Amino acid sequence: MSFTVLAADPASSARRGELVLPHGKVETPIFMPVGTQGSVKTLHPTELDLLGAQIILGNTYHLWLRPGHELIKELGGLHDFTTWQKPILTDSGGFQVWSLSKLRKITEEGVHFQNHLDGSKMLLTPELSMEIQAALGSDIAMLFDECPPYPCDEAYAAKSLALTTRWARRCKDWITANEPRSGTGRQHHFGIVQGSIYANLREQSARELVEMDFDGYAVGGVSVGEPEEEMFRAIDNAVPFLPQNKPRYAMGLGTPPQILEMIGRGVDMFDCVMPTRIARHGMAVTLDGPINIKNLIHAKDPRPICESAHPHVAGFSRAYLRHLFRAGEILGLRLLSFHNLHFYLRLVSEAREAISAGNFLDFKKNFIDRYTRNS
Ligand code: GUN
Repeated sequence: MSFTVLAADPASSARRGELVLPHGKVETPIFMPVGTQGSVKTLHPTELDLLGAQIILGNTYHLWLRPGHELIKELGGLHDFTTWQKPILTDSGGFQVWSLSKLRKITEEGVHFQNHLDGSKMLLTPELSMEIQAALGSDIAMLFDECPPYPCDEAYAAKSLALTTRWARRCKDWITANEPRSGTGRQHHFGIVQGSIYANLREQSARELVEMDFDGYAVGGVSVGEPEEEMFRAIDNAVPFLPQNKPRYAMGLGTPPQILEMIGRGVDMFDCVMPTRIARHGMAVTLDGPINIKNLIHAKDPRPICESAHPHVAGFSRAYLRHLFRAGEILGLRLLSFHNLHFYLRLVSEAREAISAGNFLDFKKNFIDRYTRNS
């Protein structure tokens, strides 16, 4: 078994675990920095190591279109291509087709779309997504799914879910025919629970995927514009139907308080572009909530960005960081990206410690109280 629950919080559904993958062990709960195009924007892989990143994310859609999975495979797979030798999870592509390409059309076969780079017509199918992810050699490949928009009526959500389940079956058939290896050295595959805001559909989706037996399960179709309570409800409606002994992943989430709320609901894995994306706009996460380093208030501030900052960043004053942004210096983008990822990785590391110590709910409350005090 690749996943072991090491400790469970007695007062919530939070658990601490360990996931063994072909390129190493991952401690859970974990945050996965996003490296869509095979690069976590602005950061060197040795910096990711310095941050304690244990697993990063890549995207099938982007890497398939450019430079192409065959080229990456020829050059030794995504790990050798990028030099990042720890675990990688790849998303399956359907979600990115939806957000990036034009003229999309979903059929039983797959998603037809116009390539956002050169306008050519393309088709991504469940089998092709699995083939691309196998060629990339990621440690965890996500199943090909449809993420319905929000809002979405129940009839559409049910139809979409039925298609996601049929696609999951096709992915499973492809895996069975093409992945002869067993044990922790093989590529792992995670199913994605859909069903929009409908509790009955979330349960049905979870049950159907669990029946097919995957290595882990994600909750998808969240953070698509719904209110925060709906997002938590979607997690609550799926988690009870997922096995205790498999990892659970909430896709594309979230703010630091949301991550703690979801850990308390039994989620083990997270990814989000937010920490690196907002960093490039001058936003930093701190124990007292997010700040915009470009604001005048920081002009003469000699303090570090955050009292919990990594030594790599803690030596710089807020005034200097503000100057870097105002002067358009690339170091500013790099330092805030590094800082924000450090903040997220430290958050999940402290959550793991709190779970082991049996005081996760106190930790969560104290963190959120302080983080939201000024908002
Ligand atoms: N990333 C964020 N949400 C989703 C989702 O619902 N499906 C997939 N495949 N990726 C996602």
